[in-house]
Amino acid sequence: MTLLSLNRGGILGLMLTLFLFGLPLRAEKGRVVLLPTPNVVRLQSDSLRFNCGDRLRIKADEEALAAVRLWNSTLPATSDIRMDITRRKRADIHFVKDTTIPHEGYSLSVTPRGITVSAAGHAGFVYAVQTLRQLTSTDKGLALPCLEISDAPRVGWRSLMLDSGRQYQRVETLKKYIDLASMLKMNYFHWHLTEGLGWRVEIKRYPRLTSVGAFVADGPEQQGFYTQQDIREIVRYAQERAVTVVPEIDMPGHAEAALMAYPELGCPGVHATVPKAGFTSALFCAGRDSTLAFLRHVLDEVCDLFPSPYIHLGGDEAPKAEWDRCCRCQTRIDSLGLRDSHDLQRWFSNQMANYLARHGRKAIFWGDIVYQPGVRLADNSVIQWWNWRGHKDLALRRARELGHPVICGTNYYSYLNFPTSPWRGYAADRTFGLREAYTNNPSYLPEADSLVLGMSCALWTDYGLTENLLDSRLMPRILALAEQMWHQGPLMPWPDFQERVETMRPWFEAQGYRYGSY
Ligand code: ACM
Ligand code: ZN
Repeated sequence: MTLLSLNRGGILGLMLTLFLFGLPLRAEKGRVVLLPTPNVVRLQSDSLRFNCGDRLRIKADEEALAAVRLWNSTLPATSDIRMDITRRKRADIHFVKDTTIPHEGYSLSVTPRGITVSAAGHAGFVYAVQTLRQLTSTDKGLALPCLEISDAPRVGWRSLMLDSGRQYQRVETLKKYIDLASMLKMNYFHWHLTEGLGWRVEIKRYPRLTSVGAFVADGPEQQGFYTQQDIREIVRYAQERAVTVVPEIDMPGHAEAALMAYPELGCPGVHATVPKAGFTSALFCAGRDSTLAFLRHVLDEVCDLFPSPYIHLGGDEAPKAEWDRCCRCQTRIDSLGLRDSHDLQRWFSNQMANYLARHGRKAIFWGDIVYQPGVRLADNSVIQWWNWRGHKDLALRRARELGHPVICGTNYYSYLNFPTSPWRGYAADRTFGLREAYTNNPSYLPEADSLVLGMSCALWTDYGLTENLLDSRLMPRILALAEQMWHQGPLMPWPDFQERVETMRPWFEAQGYRYGSY
């Protein structure tokens, strides 16, 4: 993408904003532009409209009320619209529960007499509201083209990951990106909470994890943690938006902050330090029963805070040099008849996955734990395939051979922290644009596969990716990933998609998400 065409996009966007202000948006030339694109949109006629002015009478089944409240809360302060819930039969919008509609799906029917929204439950109603928000300019009355939409997701796992370990983000910032996930009909917010540069989740039993571990790094935006009260608020906020928060407690590596807080969790004689780049070889010691007990206690509190059926246990990038040297780890390997330190990581991961099973949860692990052969993984293990640059589809293949479900989130092209041009530690071979994400993402597997749960995208915050940079990394490339996650059937050709991304620019920017270069 050249600067020239970006500028053109900006001017086009501005003109569109001015032209469409107060009008129904993006329903011109016999088509409706929404992102992600619904499965079926039938525009009845450009000239037929439902127009109800600025007073909306809404009749809603019990299960839809939360979505209606969400819609109401998104109206800008300047909006003249008033939404009133009515018990009467006559209403402008009917939200109707319909259990024949697939889970997370919805249908929307706009006629000159009113709007009917149908869904089987909360998620479907929320997604219908997200579609209505994109369809309408809610500043000055509500006017919509007459249409029918029937919509449901392509895959069941659609996640956005944010790394709060390397950089701490304020609670308002987390909410902003949970809002974005919901707008794009993503259903999981994968929250990377622990890193070498910071442990961010308050664990009451082990206060030093945060009193020490949240303050080990130097940067002004690397200080802080989330109290249990903050976390409960974020989980509730996300749930209102049909987003499940999946916490990640990375182990046995990427744990230097915890090891600095409690050195006795590590292998004897190893002194953890804050990683200068990436990670170090300091790991939780798999040979110490006390370390395993500590981590189980941490998981007790994590399970209490996060109702998610999935808990992410990391497992990536755990170099084995210290375990190979550690007498306790080696004793564990010998006594259990394990092959080596890689096998020890499998055993360690199983201890934690089995513990999560007792809490009724599944464990997600980064693909690293299936690179080498080893002991059988616990049945409740899910693999997240990420390292396309290093290992191509190895984790996907191994997980399939072992029969474990897989989440596809390869660094090419779903690591949205990779910039569009070289920046700090990101050389040219770690950059990509919107077009590559849309046309060439190995994580997009259009064939149905019962072991593939879905897709993820990630925003790591290494090299000081501070809050002010998050929008420009995410937008608009996340729109390509949302399209791949949501839209059933073939993707539209790239030029059409690019045009839609530009058509939607004023809407997303009006919601507070500024496009970066692409
Ligand atoms: C990863 O990017 N280390 C999962
Ligand atoms: Zn050890």
